Amino acid sequence: MFEKDLLQDQVIVVTGGGSGLGRSMAERFASLGARLVLCSRRLEVVERAAEEIEASTGSEVLGLSCDVRELDQVEGVVTRAVERFGRVTGLVNNAAGNFLAQTETLSSNAFKTVVDIVLNGTFHATLACGRQMIEQGGGTVLSIATTYAWTGSAFVVPSACAKAGVVAMTRSLAVEWARYGVRCNAIAPGPFPTEGAFSRLMPPGVEEAALRKIPLRRFGDHEELANLASYLMSPGSGYVNGEIVTIDGGEWLNGGEFNHFTSLPDEQIDGMFEQLRAATRRR
Ligand code: HXC
Ligand code: NAP
Repeated sequence: MFEKDLLQDQVIVVTGGGSGLGRSMAERFASLGARLVLCSRRLEVVERAAEEIEASTGSEVLGLSCDVRELDQVEGVVTRAVERFGRVTGLVNNAAGNFLAQTETLSSNAFKTVVDIVLNGTFHATLACGRQMIEQGGGTVLSIATTYAWTGSAFVVPSACAKAGVVAMTRSLAVEWARYGVRCNAIAPGPFPTEGAFSRLMPPGVEEAALRKIPLRRFGDHEELANLASYLMSPGSGYVNGEIVTIDGGEWLNGGEFNHFTSLPDEQIDGMFEQLRAATRRR
């Protein structure tokens, strides 16, 4: 679909680039000639992804550990990227945390944890990379939001609040930083199967119902998202700025994300969410 050298000369930082959609986008960017820095909390995951992507594409990929909740850690990533590749031309804000919960059961720290990763983390990475891009004379920031950033959704209130903030940040900086040659856009995906998202957000037995809500009757294909991201990171989209591009098979127009669980009995909702929580508890 693209010229092989579409992203040549680009140096792109992908937060959460070692797994799921971040990794799929990273692979596509590298296959189109970009050099990459992948960062997340688990060093072994980003290092393995970096090695495998280098081997399959021939592009240089650096894997670094970084918690986006800490500004100094993200600044450290930018420093390492500039030492190794001389500049940073692109950032994909992909790192996120999420879980299903009845909001009245949440602790303050549960809400804060998700908002810290998704909203503050996106701000930290955008600030650190944006300063570097401004100094260089331009760049592209792409944030991965989701459709409930504007519809809201039951049972994912911390994530919905944080993603709404990411959309507001994208549109605000699209105006503020255009004069420095920095474009800011976002993608709003519907459901794409990944271990991280589906283990936390898809209770056993609800997949069929989830598919029925999507007019195209299927989940997204990682390649579809990676192609859209490649276009938005490329000079070919040079006049696209401040846009949130939806890629969800028409799902959000057909009803909210997790709102349908409200029709289930309370005990069933609790049981489903507890099951997911036990299965995804960090060891
Ligand atoms: C209620 C929960 C909870 C749950 C954690 N907490 N899980 N509360 N239900 N399932 C509470 C804890 O009790 C604690 O509060 C606080 O949150 C912090 O929990 P920790 O486990 O200490 O946090 P941490 O180790 O930092 O892990 C963060 C995490 C975890 C978000 C909880 O799931 C994670 O690391 N996720 C990263 C990957 C991820 O989530 N991927 C999915 C993205 S998918 P207390 O008060 O007890 O201290 C996505 C898709 C959106 O975003 C759109 C779909 C269509
Ligand atoms: P995923 O594999 O769980 O990706 C999340 C990534 O974020 C992981 O690589 C994780 O790595 C990293 N991360 C989490 N907390 C971090 C922190 N504090 N600092 C640095 N990195 C952190 O899930 P995914 O489905 O691919 O999600 C990717 C993006 O797509 C997210 O923004 C998500 O909201 C969005 N999205 C996904 C879907 C979907 O259906 N899959 C739908 C809509 C939107 P570590 O654990 O190593 O830190």
